[in-house]
Amino acid sequence: TLITVTKLDELRRETDALKGSGTLALVPTMGALHEGHLTLVREARGKSDHVAVSIFVNPRQFGAGEDLDSYPRQLERDAELLAREGVALLWAPTPGEVYPEGYATSISVSGVSEGLCGAARPGHFDGVATVVCKLFNEVRPDMAFFGEKDWQQLAVIRRMARDLDLTLPHADAIHGVGIVREPDGLAMSSRNAYLSQEQRVQAAGLSAAMREAIARIAKGADAGEAIADLKAAIIAAGFEAVDYAELRDADSIAPLSSPNGNARLFVAARIGGTRLIDNMAV
Ligand code: PAJ
Repeated sequence: TLITVTKLDELRRETDALKGSGTLALVPTMGALHEGHLTLVREARGKSDHVAVSIFVNPRQFGAGEDLDSYPRQLERDAELLAREGVALLWAPTPGEVYPEGYATSISVSGVSEGLCGAARPGHFDGVATVVCKLFNEVRPDMAFFGEKDWQQLAVIRRMARDLDLTLPHADAIHGVGIVREPDGLAMSSRNAYLSQEQRVQAAGLSAAMREAIARIAKGADAGEAIADLKAAIIAAGFEAVDYAELRDADSIAPLSSPNGNARLFVAARIGGTRLIDNMAV
């Protein structure tokens, strides 16, 4: 049975009990759970005796004018889904519990957090690194699961865990899980709920255009030209803006002018004010 806790002292009691009878995996989320999140939970269930999920809409990773206030919150429904997946513990703190009066500490990871979403959303990855470090210290899991949907985020967390000797046993304890997509190719996201019916149909054009660009690059087309055409195709599909469309090294996140054998295509684009991201191997 799922236990939901909202206070740190209570969390410590529950995690001590779970860790006394096996390994504990953590799946950090912001809630409004979908099949992408549940896939992480199932992977965690397969690799660990117990699974804890956190649901916390982290104010520090949202910029001014972003969707912090409108971000979907549906804790009761999420708890039911997690109970059905055999999750032992739901950590659902309030912002005040995570960031008490006078909170003053931030973690900043350089290199991998530069460019892409790091450039488009200043301070975002400091907020992510800070909250994930806190979640690791709070739950003290043996391993943690993150989605490749947020590839750069995964790179930032791996770097931070290595650099700060976090309580996880070793960097391999951070597991990446492949992107879960809708049948039409759209990467699942809590933000897809913002889309109107028409936008939802148009949004499938993003991954389709990315696959097309990658096919061209694989056949030897100039990457710069393929990416220029990709941006035009995303706009033609109904998006109002492309924040970025770039080829980068999958591990270092360094920019590439042509594929190097370890390249990924990263895109962020906006449709009806909703910002969608995707990435694919080249
Ligand atoms: P959130 O967007 O809720 O995502 C939680 C986890 O689910 C992340 O690791 C994300 O990469 C993964 N995920 C989301 N959609 C996915 C999909 N379609 N396929 C595979 N994995 C998917 O990412 C965050 O929350 C936050 O930044 C967090 C790490 C919790 C820190 O606040």
